[in-house]
Amino acid sequence: MVQQCVQKHKHVIFIILLLFTTLLHQTQAHQFSKKLSQKGFGLEKEKLSHLHFYLQEIVTGDHPTAVRVAEAAVTNTSKTAFGATVILDDPLTVGPEITSKIVGRAQGIYAFADLSESALLMVLNYVFIEGKYNGSTLSILGRNAPLTSVREMPIVGGSGLFRFARGYALAKTHFFNVSNGDTVVEYNVYVLHY
Ligand SMILES: *[C@@H]1O[C@H](CO)[C@@H](O)[C@H](O)[C@H]1NC(C)=O
Ligand SMILES: *[C@@H]1O[C@H](CO)[C@@H](O)[C@H](O)[C@H]1NC(C)=O
Ligand SMILES: *[C@@H]1O[C@H](CO)[C@@H](O)[C@H](O)[C@H]1NC(C)=O
Repeated sequence: MVQQCVQKHKHVIFIILLLFTTLLHQTQAHQFSKKLSQKGFGLEKEKLSHLHFYLQEIVTGDHPTAVRVAEAAVTNTSKTAFGATVILDDPLTVGPEITSKIVGRAQGIYAFADLSESALLMVLNYVFIEGKYNGSTLSILGRNAPLTSVREMPIVGGSGLFRFARGYALAKTHFFNVSNGDTVVEYNVYVLHY
């Protein structure tokens, strides 16, 4: 009896099944979000790393690593160079000498963003090339008052080995050449990542 019924309506059953699986497939293909297990994603244990390097900034000569790209009408008369905007691609070295081994670069923008004291808005990436860090980046977004002995800037994220990174960078001027403006800044970076 049942068999006869199935036999009779097999085309209808087939079409219903087809529609159902197509619908199911479509809802899956268009699923916007789903929960994942952190463990299954390889995010088991958060690590704390300390990075130490020197940033070499050359502002004069034929091969500057930092160039002023914009300024405001008031920048020249402002005691804090308010409005001046600089793009940089500074080498990061293991030691303080310019000839020291390069472990990465600091690439981004800083802008003089304080009307009453000398302070910069920093928006940049550290792009590493050393060993296992090669290709990984850390993103910095913070305030840098260069006349303060130690400046703290937040690490707001990262890529590669530094996915899900958070932490902070401490910057300390190691050397400032008053005659040409070239600067060496020592960095201690503390970063949590997986
Ligand atoms: C600021 O001064 C520099 C050098 O003196 C000059 O080249 C530049 O045009 C000035 N900028 C403005 C916006 O006045
Ligand atoms: C870093 O990775 C790039 C691209 O994979 C490679 O060409 C380069 O040689 C690597 N550098 C170092 C220092 O390992
Ligand atoms: C500082 O800059 C001047 C002018 O470019 C240069 O002659 C001098 O060698 C620099 N000093 C150091 C220690 O790099």
